[in-house]
Amino acid sequence: MSPSSLKNRRVILAVTGGVAVYKAAELVRRFKSEGADVTVVMTGASQRFVSPLTFESLSGNKVHTDVFSEPMAHINLPASADILVIAPATANMIGKLAAGVADDMVSLVFLAFDGPVVFAPAMNWRMYAHPAVRRNIRTLRSMGLHEVEPEEGELACGEHGVGRMAGIGRIIEAAKGCLRGKDLSGLNVLVTAGPTREYIDPVRFISNRSSGKMGYALASAALRRGADVTLISGPVGIDPPPGAKVVRVERSEEMLDAVERHIEGADILVMAAAVADFIPDEYSAVKMQKQDSLVLRLRPAPDIVKAVSGSRKRPRLVVGFSAETGPEIAKARRKLDEKGMDFVVFNDVTAEGAGFDSDTNKISIIDREGITDYPLMSKDACADVVFDRCLELSKPGTRAAENC
Ligand code: PMT
Repeated sequence: MSPSSLKNRRVILAVTGGVAVYKAAELVRRFKSEGADVTVVMTGASQRFVSPLTFESLSGNKVHTDVFSEPMAHINLPASADILVIAPATANMIGKLAAGVADDMVSLVFLAFDGPVVFAPAMNWRMYAHPAVRRNIRTLRSMGLHEVEPEEGELACGEHGVGRMAGIGRIIEAAKGCLRGKDLSGLNVLVTAGPTREYIDPVRFISNRSSGKMGYALASAALRRGADVTLISGPVGIDPPPGAKVVRVERSEEMLDAVERHIEGADILVMAAAVADFIPDEYSAVKMQKQDSLVLRLRPAPDIVKAVSGSRKRPRLVVGFSAETGPEIAKARRKLDEKGMDFVVFNDVTAEGAGFDSDTNKISIIDREGITDYPLMSKDACADVVFDRCLELSKPGTRAAENC
């Protein structure tokens, strides 16, 4: 990602009332160091945690707190802003925004702004899990707002759970991602995500630890960047990004079938799904009864990416992921050729903060020119790196561009 994508951008930072307000001060500093011009708007509750003077000193701009003392500020400010970042976003503010209530500076600015909006919830874990909050967040996401999900850890109340405001780096990355523009518009992107389940009998299956987060981050990034996205998903417990055409499958053979049905017209295929390598040779139509021992015979599952990359329907770019249990780049490099991919994204699923289920990943991109290593990043940022590489490979004169 270009480090300068925030340079000279006008950021409205909306601060709402929770303990995490103190972190918003650091957020202002980071936006400024990236070259952005930051204007802070605050709710009354947030001012009880940190004074507007702190934000005024850090941003170098007037802080807006009162609708009535500046009647037109909620219209004028958004008119010249590039992005609105709401951090921390309380349960109360999330509810107001979802309902379209506008009774303070932050909610008024929100309604008067028609650009990209990033929000970073921060609250007690039970509040974050409450069905009312879940519903309101779904509503905001369906309106196109980008949620930077809270993290798990010790909360201000002393309890442990998911509710801590996302790290400053993740919020900055999300803002940069939203300002990137529609550089994938006109492209059809097919993404696979999640695990497959290979059934032994009607109640038992072989599967793996994939949560779908990496594939869903890829689908979100492609949508945000203007692509038409089809997401073929194994069984996962997360919501698909609004705007994606979602095809749900369970078994690897169903995933192959879905990919084959949707590959026509796709420009880019990204296989982030953790597809089974083996499937039970026999399926028992009734639940198998307990016995002293059981030997399962497995046969190879269909290799989806290999089948597609060798077919006449091959998209211009075929990207795979390689999940290894150690720094075994050589294995990923071999898969690049064996499976006919344009590049492969290596991740060591045993590395801290990488691989299955985490919100972050540490990837290396391997293509025929070499290997590029990336630091530990959010899966959203990894997704942007993958599509940046796709765009580089699509430039005239590159091998993938010649496949057109
Ligand atoms: O879902 P998360 O919890 O966020 O975790 C993300 C992830 C670790 C699952 C993801 O980053 C990842 O590495 N996905 C690929 C996992 C995998 O199947 O790796 P592999 O090295 O076994 O396969 C290489 C490539 O072949 C992959 O693109 C895979 O989708 C594809 N494949 C594998 C088997 C098969 N039968 N058909 C395939 O197409």
